[in-house]
Order: sequence, then structure tokens, then C-alpha cells
Amino acid sequence: MTGSSDHQPGGLDADVPHTARIWNYWLGGKDNFPADRVVGDQVQQFLPDIVTSARADRAFLKRSVRFLVADAGIRQFLDVGTGLPTADNTHQVAQSIAPESRIVYADNDPLVLTHARALLASAPEGATDYIDADARDTETILTAARATLDFARPVAVMLLGILNFIGDDREAHDIVRQLTAAVPSGSYLAIAHPTTEIKPAESAAAAAQWNETAKPPITLRSKATMLTWFDGLELLEPGVVTCTRWRPEPGDPTAGTDVYQFCGLARKP
Ligand SMILES: C[S@@+](CC[C@H](N)C(=O)[O-])C[C@H]1O[C@@H](n2cnc3c(N)ncnc32)[C@H](O)[C@@H]1O
Repeated sequence: MTGSSDHQPGGLDADVPHTARIWNYWLGGKDNFPADRVVGDQVQQFLPDIVTSARADRAFLKRSVRFLVADAGIRQFLDVGTGLPTADNTHQVAQSIAPESRIVYADNDPLVLTHARALLASAPEGATDYIDADARDTETILTAARATLDFARPVAVMLLGILNFIGDDREAHDIVRQLTAAVPSGSYLAIAHPTTEIKPAESAAAAAQWNETAKPPITLRSKATMLTWFDGLELLEPGVVTCTRWRPEPGDPTAGTDVYQFCGLARKP
């Protein structure tokens, strides 16, 4: 495991609602505290579909990683803003198809760090590593990731549900630019992000409620802003869409619904 920041498990404050744990609550996990559940429920009052939206994000993760491994031949992943381990983490999906896949996770939540062992349970043919770092510190992430990933070969950069915690638009753009600049041609960029596209007033009210109590503050963005993050890359069909409409599997019951979480996947030419 690679650690470079001063985020220690001891820094965990159960009284301050935190995104990784609220997300875990919506996903049906057990790694959350009462304070997280209170905010999770408050947000759900504004956005009754928030649980569907969170689960649609995870379903996008699964479908996109499957596509990347099975169809695009990707064997290396850099997953920033990992979240607490849940079902179908990136390494599990990738290694179920190609056990030799190598995955580096990065997150700055102390609780994610305490669970990192679960994220490091790699298939023996492959490898996993966990970096305790802030997404803004791309140099630290890239330097540490080089111990596990070969940056001369394609890497899929996963930024799912993380750029919304980078409030400054320029900073969010820089993270995308710096990570995609570090990977070679044939690499991919996957992004999922909550938007104002569906029920904008309710979404804004939910975000305001979140920002009163939970950490870190959240920023919702438009599809148009999301599209700018893929500039210079080949955006795969169906483009930037609500997660449920990104290549749904036959019989998927959520395929016809629109959720706040939008996503896209692009290839670096
Ligand atoms: C909503 S969860 C998303 C988890 C996972 N990527 C997914 O899509 O299911 C956001 C994650 O980003 C992490 N995070 C938030 N801000 C961060 C930052 N500045 N640097 C690193 N990680 C951050 C949180 O700790 C949390 O684990």
C-alpha cells in the first residue's frame, strides 16, 4: 500500500457526515454512521431517486470496466475517488475477466484507508495498490501509481463521483487534463458526475442541504461542462448520458429511467 498524505484512520470523525459513508449508505452498505444516514435521508427527501442514481453509477462502473477489459483489451486501471469497498469493485470486475489486470486506487477518506485491504485482494496473476492522497495531488498519485502500472501501456482512468467534490471548475479540469496527459494513446477516461440536468430545482436544493452539514462540499454540473472534460478524446457512444442509458444490459429495469448521475467513456487517440 502506498501512503503519502497525513490522512490517518485516527482522523476519522463519526459525527461529521462524509461522502464515502453516505454513498455507502445509499448503496446498501454497513460502513456508515448515524450522522451519515441522517444526511443521506435528508437528501433523499429532495431527491427520492438518489439511491437509484447511486446504484446506476455503480452499474456504469461495472459495464464500463467490463467493456474496457473484454472489448478494448485494457489491463490497467487508475481509479481515483474509489469509495468504500462494495460489491463489484473495479479490480473484481476487471480480474473476473482478465485476472492479470492491475488496478491502483486513490482516495483521501480515512475510512476508505482502513478498508483498503479489501481493495488490495488481487487475483494472484494481477496486482492492486491503494494510494492515500487527494485527487488534486495528481503528481503524488501518478508517481505512486507508477510502482504498479506501466504508463507506456494503456491505462483506464476512472473518475466516478469524485470531480463533484472539486468545487473549483478550473481545478476539476486540471485533474482530468493532468491524469489523461500522463497516459498513452489507447488509454481511456471514464467519468460519472451528478448533474442539474434532471429535476434541477430539487437537485440544487439537495446539494444545498448536503453543503450545510456533509463533507466535502458538493458541486453539481451540467452535461455541457462534463462534455468539456472529454475534449481531445474520442467519446464513445452514446456520449455523455444519464448512467442508466449508458449501454444498459437487456432486461435492466432502470434502463428507461433518467438519473441525476451522468457518465461518459472516451478513448485517448
Ligand atoms: C461518491 S463516492 C464515489 C465512489 C466510487 N468512485 C463510485 O463511483 O461508486 C466519492 C469518493 O471520492 C472520495 N473523495 C472525495 N473528495 C476527494 C478528494 N479530494 N481526493 C480524493 N478522494 C476524494 C471520497 O472519499 C469517496 O470515497
